[in-house]
Amino acid sequence: MNKLIVGNWKMNGGLAANEALLKAVLAGLTSADASVSVGVCAPAPYLPQLQTLLGGSAVAWGAQDVSAHESGAYTGEVSAPMLRDFGCRYALVGHSERRQYHGETDEVVAAKAQRALAAGITPIVCVGETLAQRDAGETEAVVKRQLAAVIHTVGHCSSEIVIAYEPVWAIGTGRTATPEQAQAVHHVLRAQVAAATAHADQRVHILYGGSMNAANAPSLLAQPDIDGGLIGGASLKPADFLQIIQAARR
Ligand code: PGA
Repeated sequence: MNKLIVGNWKMNGGLAANEALLKAVLAGLTSADASVSVGVCAPAPYLPQLQTLLGGSAVAWGAQDVSAHESGAYTGEVSAPMLRDFGCRYALVGHSERRQYHGETDEVVAAKAQRALAAGITPIVCVGETLAQRDAGETEAVVKRQLAAVIHTVGHCSSEIVIAYEPVWAIGTGRTATPEQAQAVHHVLRAQVAAATAHADQRVHILYGGSMNAANAPSLLAQPDIDGGLIGGASLKPADFLQIIQAARR
């Protein structure tokens, strides 16, 4: 299975900056990178730009969020079919910044995952514990609860999701989980999703996210249950993003 490297630009970028970044990434990819699946998740207004610049390339694109509703009176929301209109392959759901600043519950995140799947978009379901939860020994219980809500809602489609383990204390802090800490949680998530997809022949990608960079990517990606990365800050720097992709080659 190819590893999957996805950039999460968060609320960064602009027409000129996006074009420069994407052109540098496309120019830096070589045939050896064909063994890696690559995507970038941009702010919604730029999705048409990504469709133009990345259409036909090896880089897929996606959104950073999707509405839990199908259509109607939800001012400011963007639905899954709208994202599909612009060629989105992925949508992040339940990023910790959405859970923290926008009050997204496990149930809302699960509904978003289901809306994405129904529109043919792969939801990248983000789970992760806070530092207080880790210190209290609650890491496993927290991530299992977050993933269970999604599995419960999407049922047999669980084999079609991507999971991203992002410890909240590692996001944007420069403090990465050690490869062993990450592997331990990935192993738990692997068992949980495998139990829900007993007859699926496809292994679900479980990405690590949280201060992944060019230096620490090789050791994280070498872990048996780490199938790729969700990259924030380093995805805004083409050289760093390309190095992470290289570290994910088969
Ligand atoms: P970071 O962000 O790589 O900047 O820590 C990761 C994420 O929030 O997806």
